[in-house]
Amino acid sequence: MKVGIPKEVLTNENRVAATPETAGKMVKGGMEVLVETGAGDASYMPDGEYQKAGARIAAGTEELFGSSDVVLKVQRPMLNDKAKRHEIDMMKEGAVLIAFLFPFANLEVVVKLIERKITAFSMDAVPRISRAQMMDALSSMSTVAGYKAVIMAADHLKKFIPMLSTAAGTVHPAKTVVIGAGVAGLQAIATAKRLGSVVTAFDTRPAVGEQIKSLGAEFAPLDVRHDETEDSGGYAKAMSSEFYREEQDIIRKHTKDADIVISTALVPGKPAPTLITEDMVREMKPGSVIVDLVAEQGGNCAVSEAGKTVERHNVTIIGTTNLPSTVPVHASQFYARNILTFLYLLAPDKKELKLDMEDEIIKGSLITHNGEITHTGVKEAVKKANISYPGGLSSRSHW
Ligand code: NAI
Repeated sequence: MKVGIPKEVLTNENRVAATPETAGKMVKGGMEVLVETGAGDASYMPDGEYQKAGARIAAGTEELFGSSDVVLKVQRPMLNDKAKRHEIDMMKEGAVLIAFLFPFANLEVVVKLIERKITAFSMDAVPRISRAQMMDALSSMSTVAGYKAVIMAADHLKKFIPMLSTAAGTVHPAKTVVIGAGVAGLQAIATAKRLGSVVTAFDTRPAVGEQIKSLGAEFAPLDVRHDETEDSGGYAKAMSSEFYREEQDIIRKHTKDADIVISTALVPGKPAPTLITEDMVREMKPGSVIVDLVAEQGGNCAVSEAGKTVERHNVTIIGTTNLPSTVPVHASQFYARNILTFLYLLAPDKKELKLDMEDEIIKGSLITHNGEITHTGVKEAVKKANISYPGGLSSRSHW
């Protein structure tokens, strides 16, 4: 089985889907690994390291896509400007693709995948269950993002973070507020604490209170009953607009004198709730910094802009959208290990694919197969968008 590792083509994407370490493991297991020249360069993993691990450098992009049985990517497939062809069009019909597809936001990619009969797995659709922990690339990337969000905030903050006692006087520690203490939020708390900040954190799920406290931060509970905030799987539930208004009032008391606010609050599949209004920004201390990790999903802060850093009322608001790519060495290392474990699930003998379609992880992350959309939610979304596709019923003929 030939596994292909292309160079990512999205602007500013520095990650790669396999490292020399994981490529070496694939080779040892009996797979043939083909790497596009320069695929690991932005993660400081040169071609030579892949070659030492037993991989072969492909003659060109077309050979890589055209001869691979399985293509491993970070980003969804897209137009390759250099080759002047869409990555899906360069793939072998019936080949397997594993990537972050974010299919609901990229329905046109899903349609292209079924046209080429690609068996496509989306790493963002891997269910967050215990057995899938080692394949949970979303959590890996959130760990990176939570860490880097604090580092970015520190860079924009015009003061020290830790307490300092010097001959020239004493500096009080900076105050950090973290909203949403899931994977990214907990890593943000830990990072802010390591830098010496005083940290307060919020989450609608009281269950995370113990984890917040174990990191040395204060858990500021939102006064709500447990069964109202979590679903049976332990995920946060979407709340009423009245709840969010009350939550804003509770958070406001803490953002008023915060130096840094990191917001990560999101209920999967829903737009981000507005938890920091423009008024709350106006009340914040001049020079303070907000990093809104969910800016792309609508933002927890009313005035954040996805992909931009803006200044409002003397507060810097960072709406960054691809933080993992700014820590490419470890983000690639994590992602490559997640993807290798996933590949082994698809090829248990580490040589050939043997898809167990009844497996919960395979079923949950499979988006297209044999020219059909297999994921029920994505199929519904394509129908709702009235997009025509082979075997589909809708009538829209353009994209
Ligand atoms: P997660 O699901 O583990 O954490 C989200 C947390 O928010 C949960 O603990 C949940 O209970 C909490 N929450 C939901 N509604 C809330 C509310 N109204 N008030 C307070 N807390 C609330 O998700 P994870 O992995 O930590 O990711 C968080 C977000 O960060 C995701 O939306 C993800 O897309 C985004 N992200 C952004 C990146 C970037 O570069 N901007 C990179 C990686 C992740």
